[in-house]
Amino acid sequence: MQKILVARPIFPDVIDRLKQYFDVDWNQGDVLPADALKQRLADKDGALSAGDPIDGSVLAAAPRLRVVSNMAVGYNNFDMAAFNASNVLGTNTPDVLNESTADFGWALMMAAARRIAESEHWLRAGKWGKWSYDGFLGGDLYGSTLGVIGMGRIGQALARRARGFNMQVIYHNRSRVAPEIEADLNAHYVSKEELLRRADHVVLVLPYTKDSHHTIGAAELALMKPSATLTNIARGGIVDDAALAEALRTKQIAAAGLDVFEGEPSVNPALLTVPNVVLTPHIASATEATRRAMANLAADNLIAALGEGPRAGNPPNPINADVMGRARQ
Ligand code: GLV
Repeated sequence: MQKILVARPIFPDVIDRLKQYFDVDWNQGDVLPADALKQRLADKDGALSAGDPIDGSVLAAAPRLRVVSNMAVGYNNFDMAAFNASNVLGTNTPDVLNESTADFGWALMMAAARRIAESEHWLRAGKWGKWSYDGFLGGDLYGSTLGVIGMGRIGQALARRARGFNMQVIYHNRSRVAPEIEADLNAHYVSKEELLRRADHVVLVLPYTKDSHHTIGAAELALMKPSATLTNIARGGIVDDAALAEALRTKQIAAAGLDVFEGEPSVNPALLTVPNVVLTPHIASATEATRRAMANLAADNLIAALGEGPRAGNPPNPINADVMGRARQ
């Protein structure tokens, strides 16, 4: 039997599925530090990870490894140049999380705009003495302008929901999406600068790469309206969190909703001191059904990539399909 490492705790029934095909080494404890990960991978043919950094040094320590299946759509934890150089396949879990993640983007955006977390903390602190006409005034979503940066599958799912709120949708992306998608979403392509100037609510849904590092920093925040909100459901590092904390403190923008952070699970302490930000611990895809679908898809990818199961040799979501069938380097 081929040997695999499941680097994270996941649903036990998914482990049972994997055990039908593989000798499974399952880490049920904390995230494995690099040295422990290398040690556990030394004799493995495949691995299932969820955000664990896999670079050239990890691959070099795992000479038999042929596939790493990421239980996430984003795979910025994979050094794809190293994967390609070693002929190791990477896979991810797109699509199954689109709708849950788009729902969550709306939840954060609405919570930020309508000051839900901030007012809830105030209520819990026993400060609610009387009704006041100007208590926790926020910004409207209905009829406002939504700015989506990153118009991929999740960005489109998010934009589609704007119709019910009668919002104008503007977007920025590396390239324009097909005209029929623009028409379906009633979305208009604009430059990043124009989007930041015009949008009432900016949502980030783009992958993290070295090019998207600090897509939003001090200069970009300065372009936004003082009444605007910023929501990040993409990846930490796309926003300069220190610059954002400062823009929130000085009310340069009204509010933010953040599910992802630079250096998470650490959170920039300055963000913890500003009231006008809603903070959640990277849970945008976290519904029971979606996390199950992601875990099962990650297992499907691993099983098929290692030549087992009904799709043997044909994993559903190869990232670098070119390396398939090539000898491990
Ligand atoms: C979650 O962040 C994912 O990339 O799936």
